[in-house]
Amino acid sequence: MNKTNNNNNNNNNNNKKNQKTGPKKKLVVNDIVSMKNNEKISVITSYDYWSAKICDKIGVDIILVGDSGGMVMLGYTSTVPVNMKEMLIFSKAVSVGTKRSLIVSDMPFGSYQIDINHAVKNAIRFIKSGSDAVKLEGGIEIIDRIKAIIDVGIPVMGHIGLKPQTTRLWEGYKVQGNTAIRGSQLLREAIELEKAGVFAIVLEMVTSEVAELISKSIKIPTIGIGSGPYCDGQVLVLHDMLNLYDNIKPRFVKTYTNLSEIILNAVHTYIIDVKTGKFPEEKHSYKIEDKEYERLVKTIKKIQKKISSSSSSSPNT
Ligand code: KIV
Repeated sequence: MNKTNNNNNNNNNNNKKNQKTGPKKKLVVNDIVSMKNNEKISVITSYDYWSAKICDKIGVDIILVGDSGGMVMLGYTSTVPVNMKEMLIFSKAVSVGTKRSLIVSDMPFGSYQIDINHAVKNAIRFIKSGSDAVKLEGGIEIIDRIKAIIDVGIPVMGHIGLKPQTTRLWEGYKVQGNTAIRGSQLLREAIELEKAGVFAIVLEMVTSEVAELISKSIKIPTIGIGSGPYCDGQVLVLHDMLNLYDNIKPRFVKTYTNLSEIILNAVHTYIIDVKTGKFPEEKHSYKIEDKEYERLVKTIKKIQKKISSSSSSSPNT
């Protein structure tokens, strides 16, 4: 294949990517809601400027600044320890890297449980740091806080099924909605959240039959994670899909590439290059002009001469 054909292929690939990306208009909550029954909603987590910039550029619909950032970015063993300060830093960085995607930030454990005022104040802090909406884990037990946040004009995404902030304390990470009673409880929670005004609901590790039932019973989109193929959208943790985090590997994760291995190989090659003097090469350096270099050598010689004559005449030597 000649160079021109290669260029054409590259252009075609770029065109395809641009088609996928779609218009550059900033997405708002109503755009996401109107995707239900028309187009699946793509959601991915991000916690920093560079990955948000990539995800936004390629056209992901929602960037979720998940509290999973506590685990994959900060190394905590669960999502419980991550706090407002840390989540706000993640959210700010993501907002700087994002032009089009809707940004939803997770309210961390402890930021909305205490009382309504505390929850509203913290939700406002996310909007001020560049997020477009917040997500709260919980159902009927937090409806008052969800309503209060929506009342001040902040869009809320719900999150039911497995709620990693608290479920793990009661029963561990287990499949949700696997009995008739628990399935109907989840459906009731989804209906109550819709009535409260949330614009979408994450269903985590819910049996696919129950997730389908919920998706068909409410008018707002459901976003699945480990909840089968019948939700209106899907979310994955970026570090899981890139194999950058392997402490826990749930069955629902699909690994799209092994970035850990790519990074490992690159850093290994760098170490060898440094040790063997292969890097840096001349082309990685900056040059002084020859004339200036000659002047420099002369100046240094003069300085050295002065130093040696003054030290030989010193009485202390
Ligand atoms: O924090 C997170 O990444 C999440 C998703 C798993 C939905 O809440």
